[in-house]
Amino acid sequence: MDYNNLQIETSDTGIQIITINRPDKLNALNIETMQELDQAFHEVYDSTRVKGVIVTGSGEKAFVAGADISELAELNELNARKFAERGQETFKLIEDCHTPVIAAVNGFALGGGCELAMACHFRLATTNAKFGQPEVNLGIIPGYGGTQRLTKLIGQGKALELMMTGDTIDSEEALKFGMVNYVLETKGEMIAKSVELLLKISKKAPLAIGQVIECANTALNSEQNGYQLEANSFANCCGTEDFKEGTTAFLEKRSPNFTGN
Ligand code: COA
Repeated sequence: MDYNNLQIETSDTGIQIITINRPDKLNALNIETMQELDQAFHEVYDSTRVKGVIVTGSGEKAFVAGADISELAELNELNARKFAERGQETFKLIEDCHTPVIAAVNGFALGGGCELAMACHFRLATTNAKFGQPEVNLGIIPGYGGTQRLTKLIGQGKALELMMTGDTIDSEEALKFGMVNYVLETKGEMIAKSVELLLKISKKAPLAIGQVIECANTALNSEQNGYQLEANSFANCCGTEDFKEGTTAFLEKRSPNFTGN
């Protein structure tokens, strides 16, 4: 499919880079971009070729500077709930994806941009990255899952401070709070590190990776019994060809060759 606001490239090794491409608006998420992100991730779900996804923003200045404020300004009490629910669905699609997704955060990750980064499985950042939920400055609150994911990711005290003050934090602080896993000097280095991590993960048993993602996501959902899901998923893994291959390869002192079966 052709996209107006995303650039999508997939390498021969199966690493896909999805670049939000509205640099003149600091990659702000308008509705069309959100629909395209939704479509792009549906395609990842359907793909056997894509082994890992990197989400990033075009240029050096911004990952995503939030939802598009010119569209936000048109919302009212009647249509805003649907707007938030649709965005939440798209970000949940990303979070639930069994293919690993890394956010490579260059520059501003504000509002919906911070929420997008948090919906990815983990985050890398450049030294110039800035994270924040400044919605209170506009008289609103985060609506794409930010109140939930930020609180779970960095804890209630710091999350509430950020959401109530609208302050931003830099990448070093984000690292301290566990919001990002690595901070790299340049965007090129950050993409290279993201590719390295995804290639390492792609050598593991894909079904096991999918189950790890699902079980870890469940740990953040108080309504589900994560321990029961873990036991069920563990049992499912033990029924796979890749389990036989992994254990046999270990005993034969060779590298496993996983097939995803
Ligand atoms: N929605 C729509 N347009 C946005 C935007 C957003 N969230 N963030 C930036 N832009 C646009 C600006 O309007 C400007 O467009 P213009 O050149 O047509 O006027 C362009 O992107 C560049 O932004 P600008 O504000 O001039 O850059 P800056 O370096 O002075 O400031 C920010 C950068 C990120 C501090 C500032 O753009 C900002 O505060 N953005 C909004 C952040 C926000 O509140 N996000 C949460 C929304 S829920």
